[in-house]
Amino acid sequence: MINSKKPYLLVAITMFTFSSCTKIYKTPKADTTSLKNAFKKDFYIGTALNENQIEEKDPMVTAFISKEFNSISPENIMKSMFIHPEKDQFYYNMTDKYVAYGKKHNMFIHGHTLIWHSQLAPWMAEIKDSIAMADMMKNHISTIVGRYKGRIDSWDVVNEALNEDGTLRKSVFLDTYGKDYLINAFKLAAKADPKADLYYNDYNLCSPEKRKGVVNLVKNLQQNGAKIDGIGMQGHWQLTSPSIAEIEKSILDYSALGVKVAFTELDITVLPNPWDLQGADVNQNFEGSEKMNPYPNGLPENIQEQLAQRYEAIFKLFLKHQDKISRVTFWGANDSQSWLNDWPIKGRTNYPLLFDKSFKPKQAYYNVLNLKKQE
Ligand code: XIL
Repeated sequence: MINSKKPYLLVAITMFTFSSCTKIYKTPKADTTSLKNAFKKDFYIGTALNENQIEEKDPMVTAFISKEFNSISPENIMKSMFIHPEKDQFYYNMTDKYVAYGKKHNMFIHGHTLIWHSQLAPWMAEIKDSIAMADMMKNHISTIVGRYKGRIDSWDVVNEALNEDGTLRKSVFLDTYGKDYLINAFKLAAKADPKADLYYNDYNLCSPEKRKGVVNLVKNLQQNGAKIDGIGMQGHWQLTSPSIAEIEKSILDYSALGVKVAFTELDITVLPNPWDLQGADVNQNFEGSEKMNPYPNGLPENIQEQLAQRYEAIFKLFLKHQDKISRVTFWGANDSQSWLNDWPIKGRTNYPLLFDKSFKPKQAYYNVLNLKKQE
């Protein structure tokens, strides 16, 4: 006798098997053996390289960097004072090595930065009129972007052009060429390498006033026929500020302009900020002050935990918006490399990254990776 219930059983078993298979297929567990593997499907994970790292002076460090990161930014060597120190002199020794490093390790290669008022070649600071400025910009941008055409994947075309209130910062570029220097820079970069992604990069991009400035800047470029592909939010942040809500608002507002969002210089200071002290004068000498350098011999457990939770919350937000985010780059590989040991006060001990001074993963690293284990 045929058991009339059997066909239903068969259907049920088939459906169960099929649905559990599709479930497994849709959400394969991320490979959490490294940052770059864990976030492979979400965004690039980058680091900034200093000269010793580019020159692969320490094989242990090279192995560490290529295990954890799949994108690189040059911490200093591509800034105008280093790559274009004299009007007729370009210095490519380090930048060629940097690009070769990225190719060798199969990484996304970022260029930082073409037009910036800081670490500016002294001869550029002396430019007095629009013709000489136009000449400099054409020579600087076309030559450098052209040299690395098809090899450098994205560029910070202009860095830090805005004041905190969203207006254009006073600089030699603005003073001589006028406000259209941004349009000129982006057009020159696009012409020199039409396929490279072009970014505007800046800090404090979560503050509402500056955010409005960025939105206007991008719209102005777009309306004037200049190609801009992304906004680089530097991400030099603190333990409690900016809020996750403000970061999210910026991601949403920038991507609504049709551009990508990258976090380009992420680090989180755990040290007191001179600007937060009432009446603090930044020019005052804080060096050697115990109050300003509270953890010279190690980070207390409770702050370590706070840092871990802060990074976890930030990456949770990044994952929520992974479709809008192209890259998350840390400003340095480990705590001892961080510029925050010397800025804004020299000679402090800071703990802003995911790896400690011996390259050991910190609690923050595990919290960030755990987000992918839970998905
Ligand atoms: C910093 C470097 O990390 C330091 O080594 C250097 O002395 C100063 O510049 N915003 C930027 C980066 O766009 O280029 C800066 O890098 C940090 C702030």
